[in-house]
Amino acid sequence: MEKYIVDIIYLIGSVSFILGLKMLSHPDTARRGNLYAAAGMILAILGTIFLEPGIGNLIWIFGGIVIGTVVGWIAAKRVKMTAMPQMVSLFNGMGGACAAVISIVEYTKHDFSHGGAALVAIIMAGLIIGTVSFTGSMIAFGKLNGNIGDKVFPGQKFINLVILLAAVGLATYLSMQPVADNMLLYVVLGIAVLYGVMFVMPIGGADMPVVISLLNSFTGVAAAFAGFVYNNQVMLTGGILVGSAGTILTILMCKAMNRSLFNVIAGAFGTAGGAVGGDKQQGTVKEISASDAAVLLAYSKKVFIVPGYGLAVAQAQHTCHELEKLLEEKGVEVKYAIHPVAGRMPGHMNVLLAEADVPYDKLLEMEDANGEMPNTDVSIIIGANDVVNPAARHDQSSPIYGMPILDVDKSANVIIMKRSMAAGYAGIDNELFYYPNNRMLFGDAKASLQKLVTEVKAL
Ligand code: TAP
Repeated sequence: MEKYIVDIIYLIGSVSFILGLKMLSHPDTARRGNLYAAAGMILAILGTIFLEPGIGNLIWIFGGIVIGTVVGWIAAKRVKMTAMPQMVSLFNGMGGACAAVISIVEYTKHDFSHGGAALVAIIMAGLIIGTVSFTGSMIAFGKLNGNIGDKVFPGQKFINLVILLAAVGLATYLSMQPVADNMLLYVVLGIAVLYGVMFVMPIGGADMPVVISLLNSFTGVAAAFAGFVYNNQVMLTGGILVGSAGTILTILMCKAMNRSLFNVIAGAFGTAGGAVGGDKQQGTVKEISASDAAVLLAYSKKVFIVPGYGLAVAQAQHTCHELEKLLEEKGVEVKYAIHPVAGRMPGHMNVLLAEADVPYDKLLEMEDANGEMPNTDVSIIIGANDVVNPAARHDQSSPIYGMPILDVDKSANVIIMKRSMAAGYAGIDNELFYYPNNRMLFGDAKASLQKLVTEVKAL
């Protein structure tokens, strides 16, 4: 009887994961989707603990749950929007570590003298993938946090390949052994730890969001292998969902940057925090004062706000929303143009603007916004750079050539708000700065927006 109840609980858990994932694809339903999936997970955990046979150590289990819940809750409450990728990386790494620990426990407790090569192979796959995900995520965390720099040395790709082959070779050997060899198990573990570090170490710090998404899919696959080991359907479904969602997200991010995954993994592109100036001086740059900008905006018919990474850095989303409301009160039509990779993580701008209660229907995706650019009086760029660089459309020598961009240069006027002439993530100069219809409003985005708000109020 209990077996059937557990099966039904696992089925409900699996359905809630799928529904939750589906709902995450729209901002209106994302929050609810997250709660559905979390509820399904709680149900699955409680079902396992209380209804699966042979589960002991309840004090240890609930002790771990309480500690994990408290740490996770506090971390998620305190994290700044700009530090979100780090936190995702840290949490993802924990998932990989869990999968690796499951593999170690299962390998050391089984008796393989009567066969079980397939089981050992699954355990080894979980061990290697989970460990790589754990150590890789820790390095990614260190890089995003600014504690670790990019380390590239000659022959690195070859050395990495040798390390990976050593881990896989040894794991295959262990799978074919009739008896367990715990010593060799720890050697595989050590090699996988090394590979995780070496794999992520040379990747450009600013490419970390893509790598985190990739490592996230690794964790899902490792969890799915653990699901196989335990013959646990809900673990298997959850792992497969995380694995495939992470893979799709990784591909989408690469597509939106017009770069291959190989290019992300192999090339140190851009610099973390990206502040390298461009090398080509392309003309004169015109500045605009906050009062002139306020007049231009307030007497426009249609304005596009283009948020970027700098808006998140300045935490200026609330002031931005205030300016938008003020302009609307003056009869200006204001919309937001959202580039798919604006900021440093998928949906970064959507989450940021949602925090300031900007209605979702004001947010236009790139294709829709571009259709309206030629009829726009002013595009005001707040802390964005690469995603509005016209070089992506025509300069074949540019590292971002081919990346779809927001065609803000096609609107009648452009105002770029940033602190200096420094480059963005890709580390390249932006020719838009020198366009005749562009004016620069230099300063921290929040301070400049506050000035604009004061000036518009005074009109
Ligand atoms: P970026 O090109 O990185 O430009 C951001 C700009 O914000 C910088 O040029 C910086 O100029 C300015 N800024 C920084 N702090 C500021 C502040 N306090 N006030 C005002 N301005 C500030 O950003 P973007 O246009 O959003 O493009 C995102 C880039 O990240 C793309 O190249 C994309 O490929 C990459 N990327 C994105 C993702 C995802 S999923 N979103 C993942 C990986 C990589 P100053 O220093 O002069 O102020």
